[in-house]
Amino acid sequence: MPAEIIRISPERPEPTIIAQAAALIRAGQLVAFPTETVYGLGANAFDENAVAGIFKAKGRPAADPIIVHCAEELPADVVDWSQLSEAAQRSAQALQAAFMPGALTLVLPRGGRIPPIVTAGLPSVGVRMPSHPVAQALIRASGVPIAAPSANRFAHTSPTTAQHVYADLADQIALILDGGAAQVGVESTILDLCGERPRLLRHGGVPLEALQACLARSGLPAHIEVVTRYVAEPSDALPASGMLLKHYAPRAALTLYESADDTRLRAALGAQARRLAAVERVGLLIAAEDAPFLADLPNTCTEVVGSLSDLAGVAHNLFAALRRLDDHGVTVILARSFPAAGIGAAVRDRLIRAASGRLVHL
Ligand code: TXA
Ligand code: MG
Repeated sequence: MPAEIIRISPERPEPTIIAQAAALIRAGQLVAFPTETVYGLGANAFDENAVAGIFKAKGRPAADPIIVHCAEELPADVVDWSQLSEAAQRSAQALQAAFMPGALTLVLPRGGRIPPIVTAGLPSVGVRMPSHPVAQALIRASGVPIAAPSANRFAHTSPTTAQHVYADLADQIALILDGGAAQVGVESTILDLCGERPRLLRHGGVPLEALQACLARSGLPAHIEVVTRYVAEPSDALPASGMLLKHYAPRAALTLYESADDTRLRAALGAQARRLAAVERVGLLIAAEDAPFLADLPNTCTEVVGSLSDLAGVAHNLFAALRRLDDHGVTVILARSFPAAGIGAAVRDRLIRAASGRLVHL
């Protein structure tokens, strides 16, 4: 039976719907739910069999650890605080106070009640407190932390609406809570605090600059090593599957165009779109500022994801735009890149991976 989709208020989630979803979580079932970043595919994080169901539903490799979602604190059976250095504990406290609940995941020592399957056998666990009222209510009503990856088929574009989840996973899960479009639109930032220095594993909803500023403000060492990498094949040594070069990918082959010169960039996109339009159905992913220069191209479907001066807006629209281009049946996508400052770093990262490395520098 395909998944049931139930509408739920994103501001004031109806308690009866939350109770129904929480009962499924406690019974070891999978429930997809909205968070402020992207939709998650949730299971009881303490239940090994339920978590195995997540891997199966997504077609996710067992070596790829899953983030555990808590409501308001990080209890000792989820995070083993005693294994963390004092310096790292201070950093965790400062970051928690500033960004949790929110779009930040901290990698910390794994607590005793989290089964190894959740963390792919790692001694660490990724923990996050989503701020979305539906996610908060679901975790509280379930009475257990919820393990949840993004609710898409493995390596596909992440879901920012319930319809995206349905398109990828309808046959795999019982229930999808539909709380409307996810606000941030890209996943959480992942920061690993288990080593000697903080390491950024994935750009996301909380900008790197904001993490650095928070640590500096708190009088803590503010240097964060950025270890987001682009690797071609999955391997055991990978700190985050988001490091795979091919990830977040639409069906159509995407090429990313980068240039410091917008005029050159637009000329190249326009010329390439015209060239390809003879043999392909072309998708263009561009900024509002580009649109006047790239109108009326033949056999081309255009997605304007937002203004160059509003990268949060671009992040919000990005994944939905990629899915719409696929839905329109485009066979190739030509995308412009966006400035890598603030949340723009996450946008650029997702586009590089969606392009599986097909980058054109002008
Ligand atoms: O915004 C988000 O983080 C969303 C929502 C649903 O919360 N979740 C999400 O999960 O993006 P997922 O599974 O699609 O990506 C989680 C990433 C993976 O790349 C995984 O490798 C990494 O987090 N990760 C999880 N636990 C880790 C750990 N202990 N050490 C290193 N990386 C970890
Ligand atoms: Mg994902």
